[in-house]
Amino acid sequence: MNRRQFLYGTTAAAMPVLGGCSGDKFVVSIDDSYPVGRYGATSTAEEVTLGLDLTGKTAMVTGCNSGLGLETMRVLALRGAHVIGTGRTLEKASKACSSVPGNTTPVALELSSLQSVVECADTVARLGLPIDILVCNAGINTFGELELVNGVEKIFAVNYLGHFVLVNRLMPLMKQAQAGRIVHVGSGSAYRQAPAVGIDFDNLRGEGVFDSQEAYGRSKLANALFSLELAARLEGSSVTSNVIHPGLVKTNIARTAPIVLRKAFDWFGDLIAKTPQEGAATQVYVATNPALKGVSGAYFEDCNAVTVGGDNHIFDKPMAERLWATGEEMAQGYLITIEWE
Ligand SMILES: NC(=O)c1ccc[n+]([C@@H]2O[C@H](COP(=O)([O-])OP(=O)(O)OC[C@H]3O[C@@H](n4cnc5c(N)ncnc54)[C@H](OP(=O)(O)O)[C@@H]3O)[C@@H](O)[C@H]2O)c1
Repeated sequence: MNRRQFLYGTTAAAMPVLGGCSGDKFVVSIDDSYPVGRYGATSTAEEVTLGLDLTGKTAMVTGCNSGLGLETMRVLALRGAHVIGTGRTLEKASKACSSVPGNTTPVALELSSLQSVVECADTVARLGLPIDILVCNAGINTFGELELVNGVEKIFAVNYLGHFVLVNRLMPLMKQAQAGRIVHVGSGSAYRQAPAVGIDFDNLRGEGVFDSQEAYGRSKLANALFSLELAARLEGSSVTSNVIHPGLVKTNIARTAPIVLRKAFDWFGDLIAKTPQEGAATQVYVATNPALKGVSGAYFEDCNAVTVGGDNHIFDKPMAERLWATGEEMAQGYLITIEWE
């Protein structure tokens, strides 16, 4: 074993909890029933949009002040889109928006508060613009004890439930666009770290044992299943829904990880992790590439739709339907009625 292999081994051993990117019991293969592109793991968001003109399009990116969200906003704006960037406070969103060239509008969005989600959607509606692209990017991966927000486990509430309400509230604006695209930023943790049963519906309010990394996997499985059911409901409409895994990327996502993990990632992460420029490529590609017009209900890694072999639930339709009903129940009072056809 040479030095690079040793470093890779030690860092990679610590990395599943950060990005959900190790282990070999899952076989990921390109799904050629969808258009296969020429980009891959080392492509950047700029490369996958080279030559594209997004002038006249409105995009919205949640979590625009850090990591993948910041790079996604930067590149969409670079290509001419008007980008609505959300941050947990207006100050954070404004600072991020003014840090990138192009046309951007900052909006506050705190996903752990469904009231904040409603206010964010109302603010966006007042802009009076159809939304062509919605990238549900913001997320947390916490490493501490169980936390509940409004009685719901926090990672699930932020990563899934907040975006469930946001998408519902923005759907009228998405339908006004000629061809709206919703991109959910999920993770390989959806199959590597989720509970073996998939979504453990009897443990979403902290009723059972809490394992923070399993909780992150569950929330990312929820992103995948939300996208799947949304795509089914949107079939025949002008709006599509897909979910992506960005890869293991050097961002701030593991900010609450134990110090040993954070140090390992700081020191050796460059050897195995993508840069934010590379990490943002898949979500930007799925949000913009002309060849993917009409593609919906797919799961992407490294800029291509993939299937995942091995026991997992990312395409589990009955589970997706049950999750939808659970989301509706948990978000009661915050949702509007949508005509799906
Ligand atoms: N990095 C990876 O290896 C990796 C791998 C797989 C999937 N992902 C996914 O990629 C997405 C982006 O993460 P990242 O890697 O770019 O991490 P990041 O640098 O930590 O960015 C996360 C963003 O989400 C925002 N956010 C966190 N909690 C929020 C809340 N309660 N309400 C609203 N916004 C909130 C953060 O705002 P603050 O800065 O104000 O907290 C930040 O803007 C996440 O969904 C993550 O699960 C990342």
